[in-house]
Amino acid sequence: MISLSDLRQFKQQGRKFSCLTCYDASMAKAMELAEVDTILIGDSLGMAIQGRDSTLPVTVEDMAYHTAAVRRGNQHALIMTDLPFMSYATLNDALHNSRLVMQAGAQVIKIEGGAWLSETVSVLTRNGVPVCVHLGLTPQSVHVLGGYKLQAKTREAADQLIADCKAVVEAGAALLLLECVPAQLGQEIAELFPTVPVIGIGAGVATDGQVLVVQDMLGLTFGKVARFVRNFMKEQAGETAIMDAFKAYHVAVLDQSFPAKEHTFQVEL
Ligand code: KIV
Repeated sequence: MISLSDLRQFKQQGRKFSCLTCYDASMAKAMELAEVDTILIGDSLGMAIQGRDSTLPVTVEDMAYHTAAVRRGNQHALIMTDLPFMSYATLNDALHNSRLVMQAGAQVIKIEGGAWLSETVSVLTRNGVPVCVHLGLTPQSVHVLGGYKLQAKTREAADQLIADCKAVVEAGAALLLLECVPAQLGQEIAELFPTVPVIGIGAGVATDGQVLVVQDMLGLTFGKVARFVRNFMKEQAGETAIMDAFKAYHVAVLDQSFPAKEHTFQVEL
């Protein structure tokens, strides 16, 4: 099973690592067979699984349920779980809710913010909870940010984000995750911390790891898709491969070519 020390070693060796979001056991098994290094049970499950329009309604109970399912399906990847909106607003909440997702199978918890999370990071780390801090575009603050858009677009804003990274790393953050920031900033931050792996999504190629939401990279996101998404399903099997399979099933049921003899129990009764 991949551990945090493996990720640190990958960084030292210059070996990049992959991360995908995942919310269920069968997809987790497919990712194990594909040797994906890291899995994020993201609160993106609010949109990807629950059909919500933001991550805000997701609960800690949702996160623990999906973490347990993913862990049962995958014994290979490092498992990281989001603490959802408002579930780490106090130190007590952060400790209590980290316990719930760690006991469900997470090895690392992820929280969104900056320097103001330093005390939380430090207390969690001292209590045996490795923390990833998510900076840049932080979807739990979408209403403060005014939408899902590129962050840290000026030198001043980039320096502020670097200062936030320094503060949480000093407090003990084990990983950083940067979303939707200029590639140059992704590179600067990855180079600044030789022992802290930095995962990027829309943060350029120089971060140590990359993450994508699995529905995005399989072409199963039907609304607006972010610029940083690549549809790997389209390249491997054709953009509509999954929908084609659903359609073929529907047609086969209607024309009775399914189930055929080989799918049927022929017992004389
Ligand atoms: O919730 C999530 O899936 C995330 C990724 C977008 C990084 O935080």
